[in-house]
Amino acid sequence: MNEILKAIAQRFSCRDFDETALTDAQIKAITDAALAAPSARNIQPWHITIITDKKLIDELDAEGMNVLSAAEDKSVYERVRARGGKLFYNSPCAIVVSSDGSNYADIDSGILSQNVTLAAHSLGLGSVICGMMEIPLSGPYGNEYKKRMQFPDGYDFVIAILIGGVKTAKEPHKLDTGKLTFVK
Ligand SMILES: Cc1cc2nc3c(=O)[nH]c(=O)nc-3n(C[C@H](O)[C@H](O)[C@H](O)COP(=O)(O)O)c2cc1C
Repeated sequence: MNEILKAIAQRFSCRDFDETALTDAQIKAITDAALAAPSARNIQPWHITIITDKKLIDELDAEGMNVLSAAEDKSVYERVRARGGKLFYNSPCAIVVSSDGSNYADIDSGILSQNVTLAAHSLGLGSVICGMMEIPLSGPYGNEYKKRMQFPDGYDFVIAILIGGVKTAKEPHKLDTGKLTFVK
């Protein structure tokens, strides 16, 4: 198996990070991989905010838990509490992707996210794509946090990726070949 196929096969969502900060060289390699992602008509409808301010990530985590605890349906809150009570798993780095909402922007941002996770894995780091970053951004302080993330005008949150050293690893998920249909 070549290195790319190995990285694809071995990547897993990390949900327990050590808090060691990423190096500048790691961040450069990961952000270059992000920017190298293909996009429809090469429009690159994204903006990438790299948060390495651990205090801000912890604040977003706590605010996300506040928002979840105030929701009528407490099931997500209870689920997160049951698995440690941390929405962002103590990650020292969050990459937040915002977009202009144009056609294909979500797909393009998803491809960018996979580039980020594979780049992180290739550097020996863990990562997890994180839709739940939307939770603190949807609460009463959401606009304030979006300002701190410096989304360009007219851009809004699409997805985040958490990155850091792996404290606890997990097996990659099993391949479900039932999802395949071959038409020969
Ligand atoms: C769009 C998207 C959003 C996700 N959001 C979260 C999230 O908020 N929190 C989380 O722990 N995992 C999140 N995940 C990770 C998935 O749960 C994970 O990819 C899936 O369970 C398969 O496991 P694997 O990545 O280890 O193969 C997300 C994945 C995707 C693609």
